Amino acid sequence: MVQTTPFLLVLSLALVAPSFSAKKCVLTGRWINDLGSNMTIGAVNGRGDFAGSYHTAVTATTNKIRVSPLQGSQHNTNQNSQPTFGFTVNWSFSDAVTVFTGQCFVDETGKEVLKTMWLLRSRVDNIKDDWKATMVGINVFTRLHSQKE
Ligand code: BTN
Repeated sequence: MVQTTPFLLVLSLALVAPSFSAKKCVLTGRWINDLGSNMTIGAVNGRGDFAGSYHTAVTATTNKIRVSPLQGSQHNTNQNSQPTFGFTVNWSFSDAVTVFTGQCFVDETGKEVLKTMWLLRSRVDNIKDDWKATMVGINVFTRLHSQKE
């Protein structure tokens, strides 16, 4: 009888522990990247689709930066995995579009990290300028936690 208490403790921990990590790498929430850009991602539906908004810290233009819509898709909504995803930002203040693709990782400290690559396509007036219309880069995002968490 005395041994049942530790057994039950271990059993309950084993049952509860996965739920601690279950929330990891669901993209919903607020994120900041290495440039200081912020994005907010809404609910991810059963098919992995999501929408949100992006506030870039930088621009390739001289235009005033405005918050822009994003639409994306997360692969494999099995919450225990480290899923791949992609999203598109249709810039409200320029004629450009950026596509991001990446993967969510849980690092050794338990922190979620989005490792992404992006292509930024800017509009050019002439086909002869097509060669200089696309930029490529990487961004690393971490989650912005609310005060309550
Ligand atoms: C534009 O300049 O035409 C639109 C804004 C582009 C911002 C880029 S997208 C890739 C990189 N990551 C960011 O967070 N911002 C820049």
